[in-house]
Amino acid sequence: MNATDRKLRKLHVVTHGCQMNVYDSARMADILRPLGYTTVDSPDDADMVIMNTCHIRERAEEKVFSNLGRLRVLKEEKGGEMMIAVTGCVAQAEGELITRRAPFVDLVVGPQAYHRLPELIAQAHRKQGAVIDTEFPAEQKFDHLPDNAAPQGVVSFLSIQEGCDKFCSFCVVPYTRGAEASRPAASVLAEARRMVAGGAREIALLGQNVNAYHGEGPDGKTWGLARLLAEMAEIEGLERLRYTTSHPNDMDDALILAHRDNAKLMPFLHLPVQSGSDKILAAMNRKHKAEAFRRIVGKLREARPDLALSSDFIVGHPGETDADFAATMDLVRETGFALAYSFKYSPRPGTPAAALPQIAEDIKDARLYELQAELRRQQNAFNAALVGQTTPVLFTGAGRHPGQIAARSLWLQPVVVEHPTALTGEIHQVKITHSNPNSLLATLLSKEQIAA
Ligand code: SAH
Ligand code: SF4
Ligand code: F3S
Repeated sequence: MNATDRKLRKLHVVTHGCQMNVYDSARMADILRPLGYTTVDSPDDADMVIMNTCHIRERAEEKVFSNLGRLRVLKEEKGGEMMIAVTGCVAQAEGELITRRAPFVDLVVGPQAYHRLPELIAQAHRKQGAVIDTEFPAEQKFDHLPDNAAPQGVVSFLSIQEGCDKFCSFCVVPYTRGAEASRPAASVLAEARRMVAGGAREIALLGQNVNAYHGEGPDGKTWGLARLLAEMAEIEGLERLRYTTSHPNDMDDALILAHRDNAKLMPFLHLPVQSGSDKILAAMNRKHKAEAFRRIVGKLREARPDLALSSDFIVGHPGETDADFAATMDLVRETGFALAYSFKYSPRPGTPAAALPQIAEDIKDARLYELQAELRRQQNAFNAALVGQTTPVLFTGAGRHPGQIAARSLWLQPVVVEHPTALTGEIHQVKITHSNPNSLLATLLSKEQIAA
């Protein structure tokens, strides 16, 4: 393509699903920017819309087709002059179905093929009917990431690991994201440095199984996550580190001790356990028992006493009895979570658990209700216990209302502070004055107050 072909185009990206999709959406915009695409907030005046989709539960998939219905109307209003691309996990899993149910879609691109977008768009311009690319190419996606990433802000996300080899009975991720692959450490560190130069003070490393990270180090050796985090901590100007999502089986001692030894690693960990019943954990193919989770939590809290935990739970997996569910409730009450996500089991096509006899919907509803009530109680209690405490927060920008600024705590809570200037990127001590279910209010302390 020469410079005269590079006319200005408007790109609108819609993102569903996990943080990895958020990261990928930003990378797609980065890839298309040199081609003249600038991003816009609405599909109304876009020349191209990318819908980056999630396949994790049935509802996520339904959302794709209902959104596509709206885009079809818009495309017709524009006389067909709007390219529609479906990317992400639904594209990977249901590529053929999309082209049948939504023939107005121009491009279907799986999560491993984003770097080929420019070429695929050119093909779509030449071709009648949809262009589909859902191959798992032999070359690594991570080898093709652009190095012109637009800054994400004070809190930034960085993908370091893709895919999953664990094949939990309920989950589509191994099918949509392919085999586990880790990005070389040098490439992670280079991107982290660029992020910090662009204003990032906190970086969360992302992967579907981020703690299974085993990337090639600059020394030619394989680095685990603890090693990578230690190296990240050396980056000047980077103040806070997190990583998500982790599997209990990959929580090795080196990583547990990083929570004691790495001062920049935040005392908050998302560690999905899914169930407290050994029978259901086995049926889920999680390959560990409830006791192993308890043991890991014990070691983590020993390493970092102020560590707060978050988790994911599924209720109503095939085979789950009242006694199994009671075991989950026991584990929740015993462990204590600062935050947790809980879902009704949703049968996903092609996964082993979908072929088993299913639990009735009303039973799933009742279990979810009971579990969420307890998790909400724990979250409220965790937040309330911080009232009156002094703690450092990272300021992230303007607040929702004039005179307020936004920050986040060590434990990922949004913190609202009354203050006239934004202090963006700075870390200061505040005193927590009030807790809400999903946020905290605080006042900024002066140096004298902190000294006292
Ligand atoms: N890699 C992460 C999970 C990614 S999916 C891990 O192993 O923990 C995020 C969460 O969605 C899962 O932890 C699980 O709780 C939930 N989930 C996945 N598949 C689901 C399904 N079929 N039905 C309901 N919830 C599901
Ligand atoms: Fe899905 Fe299990 Fe892999 Fe997590 S570990 S992505 S739940 S298969
Ligand atoms: Fe959804 Fe794919 Fe993420 S299924 S949760 S977008 S990996």
